[in-house]
Amino acid sequence: MALKILGTGSALPEKIVTNDDLAQVVDTSDEWIRSRTGIEARHLSTGETTTELSVRASRLALEMAGVDAETIDLIIVGTVSPDTYFPSTACCVQAAIGAVNAVAFDINAACSGFMFGMEIAASYFSKGSAKRALIIGAEVLSRVMDWTDRGTCVLFGDGAGAAIVESREDGLWELVQGSDGAKGEALICKNRPIQNPYYKEADKVDYTHMDGQAVFKFAVRTVPAAIKQAMEKAGVEDGDVKYYLLHQANIRIIESVAKRLTGGDSLEKFPTILQKCGNISAGSVPILLDYANREGMLSEGDKIVMAGFGAGLTWAAAVMEF
Ligand code: UT7
Repeated sequence: MALKILGTGSALPEKIVTNDDLAQVVDTSDEWIRSRTGIEARHLSTGETTTELSVRASRLALEMAGVDAETIDLIIVGTVSPDTYFPSTACCVQAAIGAVNAVAFDINAACSGFMFGMEIAASYFSKGSAKRALIIGAEVLSRVMDWTDRGTCVLFGDGAGAAIVESREDGLWELVQGSDGAKGEALICKNRPIQNPYYKEADKVDYTHMDGQAVFKFAVRTVPAAIKQAMEKAGVEDGDVKYYLLHQANIRIIESVAKRLTGGDSLEKFPTILQKCGNISAGSVPILLDYANREGMLSEGDKIVMAGFGAGLTWAAAVMEF
């Protein structure tokens, strides 16, 4: 059982915030952000919600696929920054696009969310419970940032990416995934505080904390190994791969992964959008996929690798035929 991508879409908030803009808000500089991460700017919400961005991306994906929303059996949204605890973002998207026949739910696998969603769709397809799915990765991370912490707030952006995928008998879909909850503290954002007459602790609102170096080391060790495993399972070698679409966290991580996989310094097969978007967690991979697709970089039958990693800790690497 394999997955076929019928269409992709993405949406970013209108407001672009450059590194120089951020230097007005926290003690940072364009030079520091650019040299440590490769990021030059990011789109930040001035009111756009996770649901709105998801709906915009989904409509574009549906339009490209040329299918009606009623034909979608399954909607999965990977997000760690939903607008509401409940209903799920996926249910809100379902209502907005009129996908009345879909089962809809969210998953929290952070930056691996889109990949985990694709694997869940593959399982539904294998069981015959669904034939066509809408998989979304969407974030308004600016909601969960500490805007006084220069170590995190400069890294992230907001946006959504979506793909319409269908079950197919031939083709390729191999995924390797994993989780390491014992290292979860390395990237964490606590829930809203409990405030009731029975709760004794003086709780306060909390935002994102990250041990950047721990996450960096985890990424450069785990991601190439997972990609290699997925490629072995798929019987695919570097020469067969058109593009590696990696989670967009840091250009230095992408360079390191590229070196370990291809032995060279060239990033030709590793397209990037982090320069303009920053790290959009679950949104990164599907937005990059849509970018590559709309730029005409992908043709039917091309073999692509996608990989996500992040909070949990979680990771996933997949090989598929476009
Ligand atoms: O999608 C989730 C996955 N997340 C990631 O993949 C993130 C992985 N980690 C990273 O990308 C890098 O670790 C960072 C970009 C987050 C940080 O880069 P680093 O080279 O590990 O820097 P550092 O944390 O060791 O900080 C070096 C210095 C510190 O100052 P001192 O202690 O050397 O005086 C920081 O206080 O840089 C300082 N610093 C900053 N300076 C200017 C930290 N953030 C900033 C900033 N502007 N924004």
